[in-house]
Amino acid sequence: ASAPAWRSVDRYFAAALVNEDAALVEARESGARTTMPNAEVAANQGALLGLLAQIGGARRVLEFGTLAGYSTVWFARAVGDGGRVVTFELEEQNAVVARENLDRAGVGDRVDVIVGSAAESAQALIDHGVEPFDLVFIDADKPSNPTYLAATLKLTRPGSVIVIDNVVRDGAVSDEKSEDPRVQGVRAVVDAIAANHDLDATALQTVGEKGWDGLIIARRR
Ligand code: DHB
Ligand code: MG
Repeated sequence: ASAPAWRSVDRYFAAALVNEDAALVEARESGARTTMPNAEVAANQGALLGLLAQIGGARRVLEFGTLAGYSTVWFARAVGDGGRVVTFELEEQNAVVARENLDRAGVGDRVDVIVGSAAESAQALIDHGVEPFDLVFIDADKPSNPTYLAATLKLTRPGSVIVIDNVVRDGAVSDEKSEDPRVQGVRAVVDAIAANHDLDATALQTVGEKGWDGLIIARRR
């Protein structure tokens, strides 16, 4: 099928099955005001993230890469009242947009948007000995994927779910000679997962509104 067919199928399923209220629509569209326009997950993938959190009974979610907070809203709603989402964002400008979106969605009080280097922010949580997270979504700068996975392993517990975004990149991931540092970041984290006997994992390719990409879904034993 051609790319336009993927788009119309995404639109069909999103319209039929994905309940985006005005706050989610605004969060998605406000991605245009961030430093990385159009990098938020598609609506049907936002719904998938929320479902994974709910299926796993997640009360605490950690996200690497906030941007406008679109996926953050899905997670914050999934964890419910009394749940907690911590999300790392490098750029203050994006965090401002995200906080507006979280407040508009009525979940601002259950989300901490932490501005700065995600590696340093994660290390601070490790040093603080925070309660483990039930689900971690890694969706920030791709070359740092291995660093973020290593931190995630210190911030989770057996049974925790780990999701990594953008692992296909128009198919470039299977090119072992790729010099794209983002592809190398994906391949390195795949190697780390493969070598870790405490992780069960798979990867799914996705096509749709966002073109051809994919997700890794892993679970700690
Ligand atoms: C890029 C990053 C993302 O998280 C995404 O969803 C799409 C693209 C990027 O780095 O190009
Ligand atoms: Mg992404």
